[in-house]
Amino acid sequence: MTMTLTVVRPLLVGVLIAVGMEVASSQDPAADFRQNCVSCHTIGGGRLTGPDLKNVEQRKDRDWLTRFIVDPRSLIDAGDPYALELLKDSRNAIMPTLPGMTRARANALLDLIAEESKLEKSHFVGIQISDRPFTSSDIETGRLLFLGRIPLTGGGPSCISCHTAHGVGALGGGSLAPDLTTVFERYEGRKTLSTWLTAPATPTMQSVYRNAPLQSEEVLALVAYFQSTLQRNPDDIATSRLNFVLLGLGGTIVVLGLFDVIWKGRLKSVRRTLVHRNESENDNV
Ligand code: HEC
Ligand code: HEC
Repeated sequence: MTMTLTVVRPLLVGVLIAVGMEVASSQDPAADFRQNCVSCHTIGGGRLTGPDLKNVEQRKDRDWLTRFIVDPRSLIDAGDPYALELLKDSRNAIMPTLPGMTRARANALLDLIAEESKLEKSHFVGIQISDRPFTSSDIETGRLLFLGRIPLTGGGPSCISCHTAHGVGALGGGSLAPDLTTVFERYEGRKTLSTWLTAPATPTMQSVYRNAPLQSEEVLALVAYFQSTLQRNPDDIATSRLNFVLLGLGGTIVVLGLFDVIWKGRLKSVRRTLVHRNESENDNV
């Protein structure tokens, strides 16, 4: 009896250590979800770039979902009708293939999603943006955030460094990025624009704000501001666009004028030396 124990115990310990290591090396699904999925999915908090995953297994079976998580693109490329429908609902955003994703990891994530779906409020509902009516102070805060006069809490750059809106920034702002005057309309209103800003899915926006996400109050204020830029008299917009064009034209003329002066000066001096040289050569002959 003691004999067997002395043999078995180290074995048992070995097995336990191996199991422990296995648990430690395979990621905790909640941490995995937080790190790799929350930028595009909530569980019960509505759609972001990707669909709300609450009760996803009532829509599609486990086997299909595992295959999709491991390699989303291949099902889309294969023309799978459900995958194509998902793609359409996501405005053609394609879920990326996550590095090192395996069937086992996908299964663990789906277990987690199933557990979280049962909770009244999942840990992954995402940030909740109030749907109270906008006030004029929201609009003003949004404008100041847009202009960078109020810094963003997350430390991200202000919008004006790349965008213009409603003629604002025509001179000071960048024109690297689309004009946002009518973005409220293009993004189909408050809800869609808010969720989009919570986790922007386009390349530049994602890389800029992934590690410096906007806070829910900031999103609310910015959306209030974009609603106001949409609603202002369209003539104003036309005027400010015209001003922009005129300013641009003015600038161009000034620059051309400068070039003209510089070139004339250079031409003159070049011509003068040539002429001089010619004259002196002629003298020599
Ligand atoms: C960059 C955004 C993005 C990330 C990150 C992302 N997904 Fe997705 N996901 C999508 C999109 C978009 C779809 C819809 C299908 C499509 O258009 O590719 C989707 C679809 C899904 C679906 C099918 C949903 C349904 O309604 O049937 C599941 C399940 C899913 N994702 C799980 C995950 C898990 C788990 C992670 C993290 C490991 C993850 N996704 C990370 C964007 C993302
Ligand atoms: C570093 C430059 C940069 C900054 C800063 C920036 N954006 Fe963007 N944004 C872009 C670019 C470039 C695009 C075009 C899509 C892309 O490449 O991400 C874009 C796209 C967008 C779109 C989609 C517009 C459309 O017409 O589809 C919205 C909305 C948006 N940005 C809002 C904001 C807001 C709000 C801020 C400030 C909190 C901001 N951006 C700050 C560069 C920037």
